[in-house]
Amino acid sequence: QRHAVALGVPSLSFSNEILGLRLPLEPVLNANTVCLTLPGLTRRQLEVCVQNPDVTASAIQGIQIAIHECQHQFRDQRWNCSSLETKNKIPYESIIFSRGFRESAFAYAIAAAGVVHAVSNACSLGKLQACGCDQKRRGDDEAFRIKLHRLQLEAMNRGKGMVHGVHLEHVPAEALGLQDAWEWGGCSPDVDYGEKFSKDFLDSRESYRDIHSRMRLHNNRVGRQVVMENMRRKCKCHGTSGSCQLKTCWQVTPEFRLVGSLLKERFYGATLIRPHNRNTGQLEPGHGHGRHRRRASIGDLVYFEKSPDFCEREPALDSVGTQGRLCNKSSPGMDNCESLCCGRGHNILRQSRSERCNCKFHWCCFVACEECRLTEWVSVCK
Ligand SMILES: *[C@@H]1O[C@H](CO)[C@@H](O)[C@H](O)[C@H]1NC(C)=O
Ligand SMILES: *[C@@H]1O[C@H](CO)[C@@H](O)[C@H](O)[C@H]1NC(C)=O
Repeated sequence: QRHAVALGVPSLSFSNEILGLRLPLEPVLNANTVCLTLPGLTRRQLEVCVQNPDVTASAIQGIQIAIHECQHQFRDQRWNCSSLETKNKIPYESIIFSRGFRESAFAYAIAAAGVVHAVSNACSLGKLQACGCDQKRRGDDEAFRIKLHRLQLEAMNRGKGMVHGVHLEHVPAEALGLQDAWEWGGCSPDVDYGEKFSKDFLDSRESYRDIHSRMRLHNNRVGRQVVMENMRRKCKCHGTSGSCQLKTCWQVTPEFRLVGSLLKERFYGATLIRPHNRNTGQLEPGHGHGRHRRRASIGDLVYFEKSPDFCEREPALDSVGTQGRLCNKSSPGMDNCESLCCGRGHNILRQSRSERCNCKFHWCCFVACEECRLTEWVSVCK
């Protein structure tokens, strides 16, 4: 493990914690360094890993990013996703994944989203052997060079300089068309490859037959879909100052924070399914959240077990209980002391603690976090 402590506070800590290896920053990713060091792979996943160790490393990194985001989205809830942060970097042995709770549905979806996100981005960064830029969104480099050259000549004749500007357009990539003309250029992440790998790696645990597998496969797909439906276009203008005579665009994946927030909304709107038609592999609609009976639409997260209250420690339910959790007396949300402490009350103490903060995930495969030290009065659940 590497440690780099910056002067003063906050300090930076580096560790290659995604793979838990003592590796340099650009490690050699082969079957020996990746697959054989990862406990908890199923046989099928081990096969996938041996075929594509570098992609698997990237997928594992995606899962870690997803866990980190899950913890952010659930920071004020009784079940706060901390149980997914296991030593074993494949979190699927965590109890929540063996249950059918709403929380389980979220965990499946965000992990699958993390894999698509990380793998597609690694493709576009040129880090992986099996994939690269999205061939469907590739410009004609030669034609572009010719056009650009012509513009440069025109600009020179008029005595003006060429300007290249970058701006992010907040338009979904698929809503293309009627605005100003542009063409594909640069490198767009190969999300189709990312999606395919996520399926190969995550969807193949067992059969489709029981309700748990149906839930798992459905929610995996919803997670992937949220990434793919929220791709954005980023564009660059080429032309004389103030003009945008030639515009090239490429796709970018959504910020993972956005993926987390969108999935959190679907967590609240998740649909309860019932174990009818065991063998059809179809999802039967049940009672949705709230009083209205409705069909599970294709983008809904689905679950089949009512969540426990997560108040007390109950390992079989993946509940560590809320004793010792920090709560907020004045919050209107779920982290309100009354709600978070489940009516047991709270103590007020002065506490010094340090926590990991501002974590950034780097290729490949480590997390760099700052360590933030805090001393403050806090309310703590009894
Ligand atoms: C999540 O819950 C665990 C167990 O109660 C606790 O140790 C951890 O500090 C909590 N995380 C956050 C961000 O509140
Ligand atoms: C507690 O909640 C209130 C209201 O949402 C918020 O303004 C305040 O910053 C919170 N305090 C802490 C310590 O998080």
